[in-house]
Parts: sequence; structure tokens; C-alpha cells
Amino acid sequence: MADLYRVDSLRLSLADMTAKQLFGAAPHIEILHGLSFTIPKGAVVGIVGGSGSGKSTLGRALVRLLEPSAGSIHFDGTDVTHLPEPALRPLRRRFQMIFQDPMSSLNPRHRVGTIIAEPLRLHRFDAVADRVARALDQVGLPRAFASRYPHELSGGQRQRVGIARAIALEPDFILADEIVSGLDVSSQAQVLNLLEQLVRDLGLTLAFISHDLSVIRRLCQRTIVLHRGEIAEDRPTAELFADPQASYTRELLDAIPLPDPGQVWA
Ligand SMILES: Nc1ncnc2c1ncn2[C@@H]1O[C@H](COP(=O)(O)OP(=O)(O)O)[C@@H](O)[C@H]1O
Ligand SMILES: [Mg+2]
Repeated sequence: MADLYRVDSLRLSLADMTAKQLFGAAPHIEILHGLSFTIPKGAVVGIVGGSGSGKSTLGRALVRLLEPSAGSIHFDGTDVTHLPEPALRPLRRRFQMIFQDPMSSLNPRHRVGTIIAEPLRLHRFDAVADRVARALDQVGLPRAFASRYPHELSGGQRQRVGIARAIALEPDFILADEIVSGLDVSSQAQVLNLLEQLVRDLGLTLAFISHDLSVIRRLCQRTIVLHRGEIAEDRPTAELFADPQASYTRELLDAIPLPDPGQVWA
């Protein structure tokens, strides 16, 4: 299978917001320390790790909201590592991101229909109203929801709007960053089912970021374990659960609450 993403020795530094500077620029600290991996077309890859391990930073680099400081990112054969904004623009439609907190990523003053339509207009799609209606259908929301405001929806419904906004653009790749973390267990399951079905039906490639290995286990064929900005493991999910190699992965697995106290991961 061809690779949609090829990431080589990716390093990323950010200005250290915790270091107070009286004079001059804030010093930079390196968050990602040389990551190499690929994401084949059509794959569902999990990115897991504890809080602060660099998951969101890696995600933002993949969709080029952040610019790497060294190494390279190729998207569908194009080197996007340092691509300037005008050259990135046509590619931006093709890699979409869904955020953790839909309440802060959906403009509260706009109706759902406008929220989904805005990026479509930006990317000069035709028949925008039809596309909005179809996107609502695809995520299982009534078309009448187009006239509602985000605060009138439940958490799960808001997350569906976030998904609708992304898929309306007919992307190749979706990065989902902790998108079910704020939801109760039954809404979590519904959103995961929806995502699974959309990936299959639309032939999407998905990177799914979570701190929760039990969620990753359901959804992802392959899992990348991040630890302090480095890859601790990158293997088929079933293998990872059966026989974790890195001690850090074993710690993550041990942290999963088991439904039955007598049960062990087999
Ligand atoms: N703008 C920033 N300035 C300084 N440090 C940051 C910044 N953003 C993130 N970090 C640090 O980078 C590390 C990784 O953050 P992040 O990618 O958000 O981790 P995760 O998503 O795995 O919780 C953390 O230690 C965090 O404190
Ligand atoms: Mg994060």
C-alpha cells in the first residue's frame, strides 16, 4: 500500500511559554525528538501516550499547523515540511483535524449550517447547501440541525458537527485529537462507531490521538506509542496488547481499568 504520510527524523521545538524572559525572545524547547514513521493510505493509526508526551504537537505538525524544526514530512509524495502558506492552501483541504473540545472549536455565534459551510466556501466548493445537508446525513444528524447553535446540542452531537465539517471537504486524511475524551461512555461508543463507518465508506486515512489505550484498541490497526517526544513502540495494535515491548507501554496498559477484576489482557 502506498504511504499517505512519510515522516523522517521529525524534530519540533516551540518557544518555551513557561520561561519568563525580561529581554529577548523566549528560549525554545524541543518537544519532538526525531520521529520516523509512515501512515499507509487507508490506515487507521492510533497515537497514544501520557499527558505531555507530544501527541497534540505531532498531530499539529502532521496537518502543518506547526512547522517542524528538523527532519521532514511528506504528504502523498509532496514535501510539506516547510511549505509556505500559499502552497499549503490547496493541500489544507486534504488533511483535516477534529479537535478535542467541540465547544471551543465551533464558533458559538454561528449556526451549525454556517459552521459546516464556511470551509466549503473558503475552498470554493459549489452547491454548498447540498454538501452541508449531505454531511449532516453522513454523521446521522437531522438536516434541521443546520439552523441550530452549538450550545443547543449535546456533546456527542457537537462532536458530530466537527466530523461533518471535516468530511464535507472530502479530505484524504483526518486527524482526530482526543475527540471522545470529554464524552460519556455511550456517546463515546456512538462517535467511535460513526468514525469507523465513515473511514470505511469514504476510504479515509485516520490518525486517532488518545491517552486511552482501550479506545485505541477498538479502532486502530496500528498504534504508535509516544513517550516524552519519542516513539516507544510502533506496531500492530493486537501485538502491542498481547506483548508490549516497552516498559512505558506496559505502564499504560496497566493503567486501563478492566471491566472484570479477574480479567487480564490476553
Ligand atoms: N507552546 C508551548 N510552549 C512550551 N511548551 C509547550 C507548548 N505546547 C506544548 N508544550 C509542551 O510540550 C509537551 C507536549 O505537549 P502536547 O503535544 O500538548 O502533549 P500531549 O498532547 O501528548 O498531552 C508538553 O510538555 C507541553 O507542556
Ligand atoms: Mg494533547
